[in-house]
Amino acid sequence: MTAQNRASLWRLLARGMWSSRLGVFGVVTTTLSAGLILAAFATELIGVDAGPYQGLVTYLLLPALFVFGLVLIPIGSYLVRAESLRRGESADAIKPIIVDLSQPSHRRFWGVVMLLSVINIAILFAVSYKGYHYTESTAFCGTLCHSVMEPEYTAYQRSPHARVACVECHIGPGAPWFVKSKLSGLRQVWAVTTGDFSRPIPTPVADLRPARDTCEQCHWPEAFHGNRPKVFREVAAEGDPKDALVTAVMLHVGGREAATGRYSGIHWHVSQQNLVEYRASDDKRLQIREVRVTDAAGKSTLFVKADMPPVPADAPWRTMDCVDCHNRPSHVYESPEAAVDRRILDGRIDAALPGVRDVVLQATTAVYASRDEAKQGIREAILGHYRRVHPELFAEKRLSLIAAADVAYQDIYAPNVYPALGIGWNTYPSHLGHANDKGCFRCHDDEHAAPSGEKIRQDCDLCHNILTEDERESALGDDLKNVLF
Ligand code: HEC
Ligand code: HEC
Ligand code: HEC
Ligand code: HEC
Ligand code: HEC
Repeated sequence: MTAQNRASLWRLLARGMWSSRLGVFGVVTTTLSAGLILAAFATELIGVDAGPYQGLVTYLLLPALFVFGLVLIPIGSYLVRAESLRRGESADAIKPIIVDLSQPSHRRFWGVVMLLSVINIAILFAVSYKGYHYTESTAFCGTLCHSVMEPEYTAYQRSPHARVACVECHIGPGAPWFVKSKLSGLRQVWAVTTGDFSRPIPTPVADLRPARDTCEQCHWPEAFHGNRPKVFREVAAEGDPKDALVTAVMLHVGGREAATGRYSGIHWHVSQQNLVEYRASDDKRLQIREVRVTDAAGKSTLFVKADMPPVPADAPWRTMDCVDCHNRPSHVYESPEAAVDRRILDGRIDAALPGVRDVVLQATTAVYASRDEAKQGIREAILGHYRRVHPELFAEKRLSLIAAADVAYQDIYAPNVYPALGIGWNTYPSHLGHANDKGCFRCHDDEHAAPSGEKIRQDCDLCHNILTEDERESALGDDLKNVLF
């Protein structure tokens, strides 16, 4: 009985695995993928970076194959058994499986099965853990769908949040958003594979998680306070480009006043003491028609700009949060003027080239069908201009000109404009302030009025005071020379 029993158990397993093609396929698939996964772990341990696709293969594709193989093995066994039964074949296969741990052969058999299961579970566990971190990583979000996410990833790398993972703002903590993001992630992978997505990606991102759950994990509105100077520098269009026009504003960033506990200033909108909600006539949220403020006592005031197009009946009230002003905390695109001025002020473009600001501005804001065309076109526009207009300079300043053309394409055009994705200059303007688009003036226009006649104010000293030269000196002193804008 012992011998027969041993034979039948092993045979059952062996038959299941080896006598059906499905079983063999399962064993080979699982073993191969396990081997490859372990090899990938090992290469990762010794620090080999095989690029973003390695993660996709190691943590998503191979584990899927591994599990697929594992599932095939019992299916194979089952089919063989069913087939034997159908043919009315040997009783061996039909016999119910009896587990008798008092028998050494059974103990050995189940020992082997347990050991293999433990190894499999360990591999699966390690892989899911790594896979979870991988799909949450910036490399996954930012570089996998390379061409699609390139603009956001490039802009992100130049931002103050370059070391904050994409998921910190786009997903945040908690299981429901995790599941939601994975589902929408699958949809996005499909959209990218089939090329079926909008160019440019539309903003505002309609289902972005409320900032309370994301930004406020790191930034604490209670902690904002006081004023903050900010310096803007521009190169004058005429005259010596080195003559920067300097504007310094003292921003009333505000927040909670320690003495009174009252909120004031710019961060008043996001205090716990009042609720600011609004409805817009358009889905870009630029034409804000109605603004409702509810104070701590529960009193509501409705401000309306009557000459705006009506709000669609089903438009929900949106609670104002960080992103209504900081819509570009991480994906920071420059305006063409700011981009050009900065490179001139940084000294990367030779300020001694006559009229260089306008020449570079024109070359970089012309419309090109592709990046290759832009690279060529910008170079020709800049070199061509000086060859024509300043032939005496052309030979002498040749190196400066070539450098200027490189900077114009590489640093000014390329990080901001992506013709293939429909992103041009100012596709994604920042709402902070009122220089790039209407920004604060979407509401602060002295035209949104409450029934009492009170209006949302546009007084120039509500949000900042513009520092005079003396005030600049005393507020910023020598530092002014070193402040970047
Ligand atoms: C500091 C927070 C933050 C981080 C970090 C961040 N994002 Fe964003 N992202 C935002 C906000 C806020 C918006 C919404 C902009 C809007 O609605 O106008 C956005 C918008 C986007 C958009 C829509 C297009 C656009 O430019 O508005 C994409 C795509 C995107 N993010 C991808 C990424 C990727 C990929 C990463 C990581 C490489 C990342 N984000 C990191 C805050 C962040
Ligand atoms: C994981 C933490 C984290 C999250 C989440 C986060 N930030 Fe930040 N943020 C930082 C850090 C750290 C800095 C300071 C970076 C520096 O000074 O270089 C910063 C800086 C800033 C600044 C100042 C930038 C400047 O130019 O001085 C703003 C504004 C800001 N964050 C807004 C936001 C908004 C809006 C969100 C949500 C969409 C957000 N942050 C989400 C960590 C975070
Ligand atoms: C009404 C518009 C508005 C809202 C809403 C808003 N901010 Fe700001 N925030 C500003 C402006 C304007 C500044 C100053 C601009 C600058 O420094 O460039 C600023 C400055 C900041 C800074 C830099 C502060 C400093 O003192 O250096 C951080 C960080 C910041 N905001 C985070 C947030 C977070 C987080 C939220 C949401 C809880 C938020 N903001 C909501 C307009 C807003
Ligand atoms: C969705 C509409 C809306 C937007 C956008 C908006 N605000 Fe306001 N803001 C209001 C309302 C409503 C009030 C209260 C009425 C008032 O004080 O005029 C207010 C009040 C203020 C106050 C006075 C707070 C106090 O009592 O001390 C400041 C400062 C301010 N906003 C700055 C800004 C800045 C800066 C921006 C742009 C970065 C901005 N706001 C964008 C609606 C808005
Ligand atoms: C509702 C708030 C608010 C009001 C009202 C306001 N500003 Fe501003 N302004 C800002 C903010 C915020 C910035 C800083 C933007 C940034 O950080 O990039 C700014 C920046 C500026 C700058 C320097 C940047 C630039 O665009 O050159 C000037 C100049 C300026 N404001 C002038 C004015 C004048 C003049 C008025 C009165 C008509 C005014 N502002 C009213 C919020 C306001």
